[in-house]
Amino acid sequence: MTDTIASTSTSDSSEESTPNSALLDMDARTVELDRAHVFHSWSAQGALKPLVLAGGLGSKVWDHSGRVYLDFSSQLVNVNIGHQHPAVIKGIIDQANLMATVAPSTANIARGEAAKRIVDRAPDGFNKVFFTNGGADAIENAIRMARLHTGRDKVLSTYRSYHGNTGAAVVATGDWRRIPNEFSRGHVHFFGPYQYRSEFWATTPEQECERALHHLERVLVSEGSASIAAVLIESVPGTAGVLIPPAGYLAGIRALCDKYGILLILDEVMAGFGRTGKWFAFQNHDVTPDLITFAKGVNSGYVPVGGVIISDAIAASFDTTVFPGGLTYSGHPLAMASIIAALDAMEAEDIVGNAERIGRDVLGPGLAALQAKHPIIGDVRGVGVFWALELVTNRDTKEPVAAPIMGRIKAELLARGLLPFLADNRIHVVPPCVVTADEVAQALAIYDEVLSLDLLA
Ligand SMILES: Cc1ncc(COP(=O)(O)O)c(C=O)c1O
Repeated sequence: MTDTIASTSTSDSSEESTPNSALLDMDARTVELDRAHVFHSWSAQGALKPLVLAGGLGSKVWDHSGRVYLDFSSQLVNVNIGHQHPAVIKGIIDQANLMATVAPSTANIARGEAAKRIVDRAPDGFNKVFFTNGGADAIENAIRMARLHTGRDKVLSTYRSYHGNTGAAVVATGDWRRIPNEFSRGHVHFFGPYQYRSEFWATTPEQECERALHHLERVLVSEGSASIAAVLIESVPGTAGVLIPPAGYLAGIRALCDKYGILLILDEVMAGFGRTGKWFAFQNHDVTPDLITFAKGVNSGYVPVGGVIISDAIAASFDTTVFPGGLTYSGHPLAMASIIAALDAMEAEDIVGNAERIGRDVLGPGLAALQAKHPIIGDVRGVGVFWALELVTNRDTKEPVAAPIMGRIKAELLARGLLPFLADNRIHVVPPCVVTADEVAQALAIYDEVLSLDLLA
């Protein structure tokens, strides 16, 4: 699929699909400005050649010259509602016309309505939301709450995880706000379940689950369980490889936390708000956490936002004790308006149901068929619109495909009009929750074509 915008967008169909030179100049100018002035995340800056994106609609994005890509990355796995959903755009514009900014200490109707819609989707016993600017600061604040609620320091999380990129600012702070927050010590890691590359020599999901829980309990006890405030895990570790937990694992962690008086924080930043075919990924398992962190899918990133959904017991800890955390833009009205509009539209259009059905009926079987055809696919795992293909040079040794070959795969996918999400030796198949069966069929054909190339030669 090497489409151009003239053939797929609202453009006049008589329009030439060949991009004109002014538009090509826009792409060139975009790259020129970017390379001159923009400092990018997680990169050595010198060799960067960022893809130009100028617009999008639904599951598609395009550059200035009209070259269209199927967005099977959802950008950074956040555009759950698809690009340019008209209701979300309208919600933001209406709020901007009404009141574009307001201090976090005020009461604002958009903030209350957004919080209400979020807690309505959470389990019983969750009635408060603390809004942040994104996912990392949601994690910071969840840890802060857990630590102050329990009076304990340590936080346990898995080696295979990503929880964000902050931490030093409050410890660098000089005033009183530093002191209750000087707890960046005490982070301990453990291994979670990952059947395909089991750390526990497990050959079945049951063994993997049982042994991973045994390992966690050994770590808890060895660390001194009375010093541990929280276990923090992604309900489905995302960036680390879409590691769907085996049945019973999350419930087993809940039981261990209860046994030792430890809080359970579930990070739903990537997995939440529809990606797994449920509002929250943990709703696929029989478990209720103490704190839930969210960002990304709650408003599909139209305005930066995140937050912590707080259980009543923890919220009550701060009824009379000051909560030593805050952000200028906590509950920013444009973000709040985008949450209201996004969640209402997702409900009205059954977008979460679509993600569930696409995963079950189209993506799951389609990716399994690719695995049956291509020996390079060592493992396929996922749910909803949250999948990973693990690429290996040899199915017996499970040797990961090397970075240069992954680079070529990315280039070949882009050349065929598919914007992929690649991490290590994996292709993460993570389209928006609004993706259609037809778009999935187009994407599967592109993956098939690229994986049919002589990649390992
Ligand atoms: C599970 C998880 N938690 C936290 C974060 C951090 O979110 P942000 O980049 O919005 O700070 C991410 C980002 O990808 C994530 O995937």
